[in-house]
Amino acid sequence: MARNPQPVLGLDGGLELRPWEPRDADALVTAGQDPAIRLWNRLAVESPEHARQRIERMHRRWQAEQAAIWAIARTGGGEALGLIGWGDIDLADGNAEIVYWLLPAARGGGVAVEATRRVSRWALEELGLHRLRLCHSTANPASCRVAEKAGYSFEGTMRGALLHEDGWHDEHLHSLVAGDL
Ligand SMILES: CC(C)(COP(=O)(O)OP(=O)(O)OC[C@H]1O[C@@H](n2cnc3c(N)ncnc32)[C@H](O)[C@@H]1OP(=O)(O)O)[C@@H](O)C(=O)NCCC(=O)NCCS
Repeated sequence: MARNPQPVLGLDGGLELRPWEPRDADALVTAGQDPAIRLWNRLAVESPEHARQRIERMHRRWQAEQAAIWAIARTGGGEALGLIGWGDIDLADGNAEIVYWLLPAARGGGVAVEATRRVSRWALEELGLHRLRLCHSTANPASCRVAEKAGYSFEGTMRGALLHEDGWHDEHLHSLVAGDL
């Protein structure tokens, strides 16, 4: 990963996945104010400066081969509408966990499903990972639907798996393994 620049990945409908840029700081601040993103992604962004630090950290984590995080944006330099990518990348053991959110105006049009399929193909076919995880609270049916529609298999429920701002949540574990595509 570190030897290569983070690629731009095309999506349908005039959208693309591109690396986050300092000019996307305001979109990250807006996301941090959205109740659903705050709750489900545990995202807290205090200021544009804090957002810029988080964006710099995304690039450091690509260089450290620990994460690959893209902005979902209109092609041709559009502003960020969402985020998707891989955290907890383990190149030695060939696995990673997906993270995603969309700003409210971008929801409901199938973007999350298409972007999940695109980064999953990249992770399995281009990065060479073997197993991808998708975890979400059992109280987040939209995320469960994204997992199903993107072709992830449901593996079970992890009890008391993640602390959200309203308490501990059980999580569904879904996976996509090389050969599933
Ligand atoms: C989860 C999220 C990324 C999904 O984005 P989206 O644009 O709505 O997703 P899509 O349009 O690709 O598809 C979502 C599917 O979930 C369904 N869905 C949406 N809200 C739902 C709800 N409350 N209950 C059940 N299904 C729901 C949609 O109907 C759609 O399924 P369908 O095509 O069969 O009708 C978006 O809602 C979001 O950012 N939510 C807040 C943050 C979040 O939940 N992050 C994920 C943390 S694991």
